[in-house]
Amino acid sequence: MRILFLADVFGSAGRRAVEERLPGLREELGAGFCVVNGENAADGRGLTPKIADKLLAAGADVVTLGNHVWARDELTAYLAQSERVIRPANVASGSPGRALAVAPATDGTPVAVVNLLGWLFLDVPRGPFEDVDELVEEARRRARVVVVDFHAEATSEKIALARWLDGRVTAVVGTHTHVQTNDARVLPGGTAAITDVGMTGPHDSVIGVEAALAIQRMRTAMPIRFRPAEGDVRIEAVVVDCGADGRATACEALRVTID
Ligand SMILES: [Fe+2]
Repeated sequence: MRILFLADVFGSAGRRAVEERLPGLREELGAGFCVVNGENAADGRGLTPKIADKLLAAGADVVTLGNHVWARDELTAYLAQSERVIRPANVASGSPGRALAVAPATDGTPVAVVNLLGWLFLDVPRGPFEDVDELVEEARRRARVVVVDFHAEATSEKIALARWLDGRVTAVVGTHTHVQTNDARVLPGGTAAITDVGMTGPHDSVIGVEAALAIQRMRTAMPIRFRPAEGDVRIEAVVVDCGADGRATACEALRVTID
């Protein structure tokens, strides 16, 4: 089976790229299952119910989130009832929403997706290693194919989690930095991994934001309001092939230029 994982969708440019290109891309690649990180889809920060539904309609089987999970009030009630839009596991206990989704691939194979936040340089109540084993065990009870979206800043933490899970999950896909890393690989135990899958959005920017605004904020330390950029839109993704046993056989990064 082939799994397509789309990097963090940023703003309206990223959303348009997904809506216009994802159906064809799934077809061309023969992807039986698709995960989309929607954490920056609403104007660069968070996700709304309407945009979540659009990502699902465009071909995402599961939508994952990250550190901006609570940025949009209207998403909270949606997360509480959604089976396919999931939030990181290591937010405050009792928070609405799920951190695990199981959905069928096109051939009917169940695929589990889990979402976790990194500890380094992010504001989380618990480190990911406290939640990950129980979450992965539950996922494995329900599916042989398990995909982990690890939304984290530090390369070391992402590599460490991938190594920790090697042989227990199909893929550990890093998200959040919006810069695609050149290390897509299959680890010795059969887990595909990439430190960061990149960004689906405007790359003529500072990680999605209009460059001049990001630079101005950094130079002046003033609260400059960010606007999503528009130019050099790409879909960045990773393609993972795996067997019926859930072991990955190939892992390749992908970059599709939109305009
Ligand atoms: Fe993020």
